[in-house]
Amino acid sequence: MIKANGIDICYDDLGSGLLPVIFLHGFPFNKEAWAPQINVLKDTHRVIAFDNRGFGKSGKDSEKTTITLMANDLIRFMDALNIEKAVVAGLSMGGYILLNAVIRFPSRFEGIVLCDTQCISDTDEAREKRYKTIEQIEKGGQKEFAEGFIPKLFGKKTFDEKPEVVQVTMQAIMSTSPGTLTATLDALAQRTETCTGLKNIVKPTLIICGEEDTITPPAQSEKMHKAILQSKNVIIPGAGHLSNLEQPESFNQHLLDFLKAVESGE
Ligand code: MLT
Repeated sequence: MIKANGIDICYDDLGSGLLPVIFLHGFPFNKEAWAPQINVLKDTHRVIAFDNRGFGKSGKDSEKTTITLMANDLIRFMDALNIEKAVVAGLSMGGYILLNAVIRFPSRFEGIVLCDTQCISDTDEAREKRYKTIEQIEKGGQKEFAEGFIPKLFGKKTFDEKPEVVQVTMQAIMSTSPGTLTATLDALAQRTETCTGLKNIVKPTLIICGEEDTITPPAQSEKMHKAILQSKNVIIPGAGHLSNLEQPESFNQHLLDFLKAVESGE
């Protein structure tokens, strides 16, 4: 646990290496969602994953949750650990946070990995849906929310062959407090677009998306790839929205290749 930006942040910091790799989880999960990456990359790199405010074991304060505030958390967390520069990977909401941070604080990033994410803000329809979900959760409907969300998260192969991944994800959603769910849904609904800032990102960038991702579909990755000069775009077959959990071997290989290229300055 470390204090940063006024809250207690719970994190794992494993392995060693000159260039730390930091992982940002999606909504509504926690740092354990990066276990298949941490467990492998820790042998060759310093790897860090933390719980976003309110999630997992991290605290929160009375500030209204916004994606910008969560991006500030990331930078203050890096300050607290004396990390000047890192490669940062963010999945979905983690990607929203990362894009917000890299556009405002480019000097803190050696490279970025955008996983199953997008640069657009919510449409009016998507925003309405989030507010309905907030009402549902406030009325005690967290389980219904989780049961309705799970079918959207994974590709077919995962449901057929990896029920344990689905089960662990269900547990992560159910272990998140209703207050954090609703505050973060509001933050997601209110987030601003980052697409117009993409042209200013001049960092090695890896973009990864599950082929069957319906929440942040491959077309959104393609759009970011076209706008970010130094980007590589990778589609992972047999995966939906949580590509790092669904196809960890393929995901890790792309990540390791990218890190090697960044480290050698290719
Ligand atoms: C996530 O996985 O972080 C969320 O699904 C993102 C979103 O709902 O926009």
